[in-house]
Amino acid sequence: MGDISGLDNLAPATTAATPFSPTFGASAAGSFTTEPRTGDPYRYQTGFGNRFATEAVPGALPSGGQNVPQKCRYDLYSEQLNGTSFISSRQSLQHVWMYRVRPSVAHRPLERMALSPDLEACFAPQNPNVHYTPLTYTWGPLDIPEASQSINFYQGIKTMGGRGDPTIREGVAVHMYAANTSMGNEAFCNNDGDMLIIPQVGRLDVQTELGRVMVRPGEIFVMQAGIRFRVLLPDGAVHGYIQEIFGSHYELPEMGPVGTNGLAHPRDFEMPVASFDIDESKWTIVHKLTGELYCYDQAWTPFDVVAWHGNYVPYKYLLEKFVALSSSMKEQLDPTIYTVLMAKSKWDGVSLTEFAVFTPKWATATNTFRPPYYHRNMATEIGGLICGKYGGSAREQEAGGLTLEHSYMPHGESYEAWVKATTTPLEPMLVGVGSIGFMLHLSSHFSVTKFAMERHNTIKIQRPEFWDNMKGHFLENLAEVNKALAESGLPALGTRPA
Ligand SMILES: [Fe+2]
Repeated sequence: MGDISGLDNLAPATTAATPFSPTFGASAAGSFTTEPRTGDPYRYQTGFGNRFATEAVPGALPSGGQNVPQKCRYDLYSEQLNGTSFISSRQSLQHVWMYRVRPSVAHRPLERMALSPDLEACFAPQNPNVHYTPLTYTWGPLDIPEASQSINFYQGIKTMGGRGDPTIREGVAVHMYAANTSMGNEAFCNNDGDMLIIPQVGRLDVQTELGRVMVRPGEIFVMQAGIRFRVLLPDGAVHGYIQEIFGSHYELPEMGPVGTNGLAHPRDFEMPVASFDIDESKWTIVHKLTGELYCYDQAWTPFDVVAWHGNYVPYKYLLEKFVALSSSMKEQLDPTIYTVLMAKSKWDGVSLTEFAVFTPKWATATNTFRPPYYHRNMATEIGGLICGKYGGSAREQEAGGLTLEHSYMPHGESYEAWVKATTTPLEPMLVGVGSIGFMLHLSSHFSVTKFAMERHNTIKIQRPEFWDNMKGHFLENLAEVNKALAESGLPALGTRPA
């Protein structure tokens, strides 16, 4: 036997069958991108909050420390899009440099389009199209447009409610969408805010200035303000939800004592790679500003960005990747433990919104009331169901529907659910299999639009007698109560003090 401490002993044997040279290691040829997969033909860069660099033609990004060379390679135009103000903290700065065939400014004059009566962006109480009410509501899914009507993605957006106003850069809007037609030579750009798009039926094939993203039900997609995009419908009709935020961008929640891992992992967020078309046909660009639509034409595609670098970029996330931290020996945690994304409000330490997701999980806690406890919150709670069965008992929520609980209004499970939850032996249980639900927590009041109250096809009112059977079992325990009072030297219930 030879010297086993020598390098030669660690090297693989070189034989005719394994003709490797006795060297070790390998180097990556580039940073990571995902591979195309079933139902999604595109590649993605990964990592929430990263600064990316991507070029569809080698050498299209400038080198030499410059963003704006005197003349870009291939005669591309350089164009910067800022998603935050110039003087923002370095941590919050978001922008992207694009190198494109033509600059975005080159287009025909703007025109105002017809008002869309179901689209709202300003939720001041003075707006006659919105109403602040403490009433709870439940809606079913929107009707898919009739085949005789061609409704594309942006035409199919219906505002359910909101708070605030994009002109003061503070607030949120909640929409539902239903569409049956791909956008043609048309791009949409939301000047009001970032949109968190939650498909419920049908994939969205989204072409953005920064590349292509395929989003399916079970994934979410964030499309930032000011970036132009169009939506194709490879599966036909679609239905889903949108949460739009004004004056803020989505972030991952702080982890606190949770530590480094858990919830939504940054590496699971997927961003497009640069992709451009050569297309010199007529295109129309539609902008949304304070809920009103404006458009202009141009004689070439807006999707002509050959290369880009920066961190202001759309992304998607597959909700089933969420690492729920819900299993415990006793007690339950607040629903914010399910937060995927949040956005900050203008108040220090207060969120504008939290987007929480409910995926299958183990319920393990013993000697506890496992359903959500009876509660009243400062936050407004808006719930949606992407697929599966709703787990609560006090509402009839169906997949594609939406529920609304206003701030400070009480809610909780039915009497029957309370009986079951307080008497059933508590074994570890897998709950929510086949189901994905979500909740939007809004740290504010919330207005409901006229569309939601008067023109939505399914609005469900709770039966007036629903809570009538709620029993006060305390009254059946008066003997035990009076015994405890007496032992403490206190008068029995119903006894006047002497
Ligand atoms: Fe709640």
